[in-house]
Amino acid sequence: MSEEVKPCACCDCDEEPTEEELLERLDAVIAEYRGKPGALIPVLQLAQGIFGYLPEVALKHIARELRKPYSEVAGVVGFYSFFTTVPRGKHLIRICMGTACYVRGGVQVLDAFKKGLGIDIGGTTEDRQFSLEIGRCFGACGLAPVIMVDDDVHHRVKPKRVGEILAQYAEEPVLVETSERSERRSADQPAEQFAGSQRSA
Ligand code: FES
Repeated sequence: MSEEVKPCACCDCDEEPTEEELLERLDAVIAEYRGKPGALIPVLQLAQGIFGYLPEVALKHIARELRKPYSEVAGVVGFYSFFTTVPRGKHLIRICMGTACYVRGGVQVLDAFKKGLGIDIGGTTEDRQFSLEIGRCFGACGLAPVIMVDDDVHHRVKPKRVGEILAQYAEEPVLVETSERSERRSADQPAEQFAGSQRSA
């Protein structure tokens, strides 16, 4: 159901595809699903894979091509939290706020990520590396608090591990300052930097 998005549709170069090229890819998806029952959601999922999010131009295109009211398409997008109409970062961090994670420190973990990344829930870092969202129970309550980074599940996360986790995914060093470090650090000392490293299995 997911499509690997390459910067360029025709080769392996690093050029960003134009909107026209992205719409051409979307047309290929729509052609595959046109006339099939329940086509809207898979088309939206694949469109999000193509664009990285669901811009208005894509939603209008889908509505037109699937012959559905725009309000219906926008309504489906608004209903499912999986869909986003704003660009997400390369890596999506989701903090579980289910009951078990909440009572076992999920809020503190969330605060550490917010502080470390300098963004709020629903935000994306300026370099578009990370987006931060909350989720509701990832099915690993016994190992709370739990977070997910893309498809990776991290168990028993502590606020002090935020820098270590981000470093596994960051292409560039990530500037992280948790409250714990903030208390230790004097005003004159530089914030600690975590060099990017290989992602753990
Ligand atoms: S409540 Fe967080 S995994 Fe279930």
